[in-house]
Amino acid sequence: MSRVPEHVAMIMDGNGRWAEMRGKSRLEGHRAGVRTVERVVGWCRDAHVRYLTLYAFSTENWKRPAEEVGDLMKLMTLVLKTKAAAFRDANIRVRVIGRRADLSQVLQRMIAKIERMTDGCDGLQLILAISYGGRSEIAEAAYAYACAVRDGKVSGAEVPSDAVFRSYLYASDVPDPDMIIRTSGEFRLSNFLLWQSAYSEFWATPVMWPDFGKDDFSAALASYATRNRRMGGRP
Ligand code: FPP
Repeated sequence: MSRVPEHVAMIMDGNGRWAEMRGKSRLEGHRAGVRTVERVVGWCRDAHVRYLTLYAFSTENWKRPAEEVGDLMKLMTLVLKTKAAAFRDANIRVRVIGRRADLSQVLQRMIAKIERMTDGCDGLQLILAISYGGRSEIAEAAYAYACAVRDGKVSGAEVPSDAVFRSYLYASDVPDPDMIIRTSGEFRLSNFLLWQSAYSEFWATPVMWPDFGKDDFSAALASYATRNRRMGGRP
């Protein structure tokens, strides 16, 4: 088994606290978070990680004050708009998972554009979770499966296998995350990749996302390399 995780997923937490500790606005914290995203993408590519999923905005994040939600949406739109060509030139394929219909028309257009522009890239796959929630993903998949049964596309006579059910999830060709990293000292999944994380290795650090550095990333990879992944079997 490879010692480098094929798929790393990250819960980018702590932008707000990082900013407050420095007397800056939360928006400045999120901007600093974007700079960390840019660095992390490079480290993953250099380490030969194949898939990187980033939790950018959860279905629960809509509960934040309208100003912060608006700032985050504008920031994500700007990043996708200004970085699309750079991602393509770096051979990085960008995809988005989540409830796209929740997003503004302009953000939806930027997502469609970056996905189209980077469609042929076969280097790192960067999956951005935007208006993403694991429960809602599972509910959507169950609904799609029920519709397939109703429409006679599948018999529905038996409980679907994991492989069949997976095919109804977002980006179902992406393998499960081997490792989930969370910053800012919290030890929760917070509705992230609930179905896919069944056997993911977890790694957490007290470091706030804007301060997440190469040493932290290397420590996470080193920890992963020591894990004995039995996947429910015996050693
Ligand atoms: C968590 O910090 C971070 C977020 C809710 C947003 C993260 C999003 C980005 C960095 C933008 C990324 C953009 C793209 C296109 C990848 P928090 O606000 O929950 O911090 P706190 O827990 O300290 O308040």
